[in-house]
Amino acid sequence: MTVLPIATVGNPGLRIRAAEVTRDDLASADVQSFIDDLIETMRHANGAGLAATQVLRHQRICAVEVSNNPRYPYKPPIPLTILVNPVLTPLDDEQFRNFEGCLSVPGIRGEVARSTRIRVQAWDRHGNEIDEEVRGLKAATYQHEVDHLDGLLFLDRVEDSRTLATWDSFNEFHKEAFVERVTALVAKHGS
Ligand code: NI
Repeated sequence: MTVLPIATVGNPGLRIRAAEVTRDDLASADVQSFIDDLIETMRHANGAGLAATQVLRHQRICAVEVSNNPRYPYKPPIPLTILVNPVLTPLDDEQFRNFEGCLSVPGIRGEVARSTRIRVQAWDRHGNEIDEEVRGLKAATYQHEVDHLDGLLFLDRVEDSRTLATWDSFNEFHKEAFVERVTALVAKHGS
């Protein structure tokens, strides 16, 4: 397995909409070994997720995993999940203000409105159908990753640029209130 370089904001490759993956592509040794590299790269960078777009491979594949993540200690665990051709549908109008960071936007976090309940339809890495409801912070993580596949960064969704913060400033000025807010969210939605 290989740790791949992660593109950062300003790289035009992050702005390309990724292409759908066919079942034949997904079954190929090339794509399966790419998925292994994507997982390896995400873990190496302590990411909660990583989209193929971020390593400049423009196929609709992303990985999500949270387990004792030092970047996001308040995030409940998410088992390793590979989403292929994911389609997300909000299940109601409820949103919450999430403080997001991104491996492609080093050093900066900002506040983004995300749906708290979504339906996720996708394939797993073996082409099995995924169709489930995802809630809370986990739903926000999914939305962030699928945005990458559409060529979007969380920066595009920051409504108030005054919420932008370095990680040090986040920890000093915003973390306490945010952790209180997401703890209530996680208590309500279970993830
Ligand atoms: Ni990201």
